[in-house]
Amino acid sequence: MVLSSLPLVFAGFATCHAALITVPSASQLRYQSTDFVALIHFNIETFAHNTGCDSSNWNTLAPYATGKTRDPATFYPKKLNTTQWMESITGLGANIAVLTAKHGCGFTLWPSKAKFLDGRPYNYSVGIPGASIQYDVLRKFVDSAQDAGVGHGFYYSIMKNFYLCHDFNGKHSCLSSVLPGQQNISEEEYLHMAKQQVTELWTQYGNITRIWVDSGLGGLGPLMDQLQPQAAGTPLNPIDWCGTESGYPSRDVGSGDIWSTGHGYFRQANGTQWVPKYCDPQLFREHVWFWEPSLHVRSLAEMIPIYHDIVGRGMVMELAFSIDRDGLVEESHAKVYRQLGQWVQQCYASPLAVASGKGYVFNLFALREGQMVDRFQIQEGIVMGQRVRNYTIERSSSNGWVPLVSASAIGRKRIHLLPKSLMVSASMMIRLRIENAIAEPSIKQFSAFAPCPDEMIPLSI
Ligand SMILES: *[C@@H]1O[C@H](CO)[C@@H](O)[C@H](O)[C@H]1NC(C)=O
Ligand SMILES: *[C@@H]1O[C@H](CO)[C@@H](O)[C@H](O)[C@H]1NC(C)=O
Ligand SMILES: *[C@@H]1O[C@H](CO)[C@@H](O)[C@H](O)[C@H]1NC(C)=O
Ligand SMILES: *[C@@H]1O[C@H](CO)[C@@H](O)[C@H](O)[C@H]1NC(C)=O
Ligand SMILES: *[C@@H]1O[C@H](CO)[C@@H](O)[C@H](O)[C@H]1NC(C)=O
Ligand SMILES: *[C@@H]1O[C@H](CO)[C@@H](O)[C@H](O)[C@H]1NC(C)=O
Repeated sequence: MVLSSLPLVFAGFATCHAALITVPSASQLRYQSTDFVALIHFNIETFAHNTGCDSSNWNTLAPYATGKTRDPATFYPKKLNTTQWMESITGLGANIAVLTAKHGCGFTLWPSKAKFLDGRPYNYSVGIPGASIQYDVLRKFVDSAQDAGVGHGFYYSIMKNFYLCHDFNGKHSCLSSVLPGQQNISEEEYLHMAKQQVTELWTQYGNITRIWVDSGLGGLGPLMDQLQPQAAGTPLNPIDWCGTESGYPSRDVGSGDIWSTGHGYFRQANGTQWVPKYCDPQLFREHVWFWEPSLHVRSLAEMIPIYHDIVGRGMVMELAFSIDRDGLVEESHAKVYRQLGQWVQQCYASPLAVASGKGYVFNLFALREGQMVDRFQIQEGIVMGQRVRNYTIERSSSNGWVPLVSASAIGRKRIHLLPKSLMVSASMMIRLRIENAIAEPSIKQFSAFAPCPDEMIPLSI
């Protein structure tokens, strides 16, 4: 009996139990409204080498770079076109795009007006004398994103800046030697600089949908909350990382249920803070973020299991976009984004049967005899929180109900692939039965789908 497993307190005192259920903020809901975020890697690292700046490339010409990494003229994307990026972003179905405004080298894609304590200009950005690019790249990106209906975000590594002698862990990296062109500044001056730059980022480009800061906040969290209270990825509106960049979180972190509540790689059911989870794989097979020649792009067939492991387990996929040295999404990449976007549409836009609403049992009445089913998708109405704790998808048989899938967490999206396709017989019913929930479940959709090809059936491409 379904209802008997519910704690009495939840049996109908809506106003009373509402306070006990953890729900997302408006910005977290916005963040979780998309399967994909485009995590765009494009900066002076694109012209150096992937690991960014170090003593091996700062003052030398990397074998395949166009100039010394310390030289602002090295950032020279001759055909830069942020509108072209948006075609791949919307083709994929992403509706948020994040750009690396500043990564580990320290070069900024906007003409930063930040100054050192002695009044000297920052002097390592677009727009300065000697730089190849004399305009604000962020402005172009934001304008293109807005035209495409895509929310914009910025990545800014607060703790690392090779130009300013700070390594990835935020440690001073010029204690024994300072390379020509590096600025050996104190911790206080470093934070003074970071604060000016994030203030520029967080005040000059309107409302930011997603803020990415890498490896620590440097005490700037309160400023972020103050200047961009509606952004996701802030102390006010936290989101958490899945624990791997490999694209295979089940294999590398664990295959357990994932909750949008509580902290940690899996979070906790009944956690008291809403924390959406994201996973950030690359498109390159190699573990590389910034574009390099001669790497290999994952195929659609390789991206499908990654989609199921991330999006199919309730997470948002922040998929890498590695813009090339011309300043474009290279065609071999554009093709995979387009294919993946079309494949998601093809597989999941037309269910065989759908059920939705409030309650504990959801029957797929529209299924017809002879149809083949090999997957289900479930979405909770997460605006009401993540209420389901245990559920089973089952089919009827002459001997009663036979379980097909049992699990605990639903959340923003859960996809279950059956080990083998099931043919719907004349009298067969398929239903979702929620066995345990902290309050009446709200199911946005429970759907069954026909088998979907692993390889794209070419549509318009
Ligand atoms: C930029 O890309 C868009 C979309 O591909 C295209 O329509 C436009 O002509 C391009 N602009 C330039 C200056 O090449
Ligand atoms: C800015 O950097 C360039 C080298 O990139 C250097 O020639 C110039 O003197 C610097 N200007 C200031 C004010 O530091
Ligand atoms: C760089 O500055 C730090 C203090 O900010 C100082 O301890 C260190 O000796 C300096 N490095 C060199 C090589 O002078
Ligand atoms: C920006 O976000 C604030 C809340 O922080 C909101 O009041 C405002 O309407 C938003 N502006 C736009 C243009 O969306
Ligand atoms: C969550 O809360 C429900 C209702 O209070 C309880 O039955 C369940 O055991 C809790 N789950 C966990 C994992 O603590
Ligand atoms: C029900 O879900 C909880 C997490 O909420 C889990 O700990 C428990 O093992 C599940 N029980 C069953 C029977 O699946």
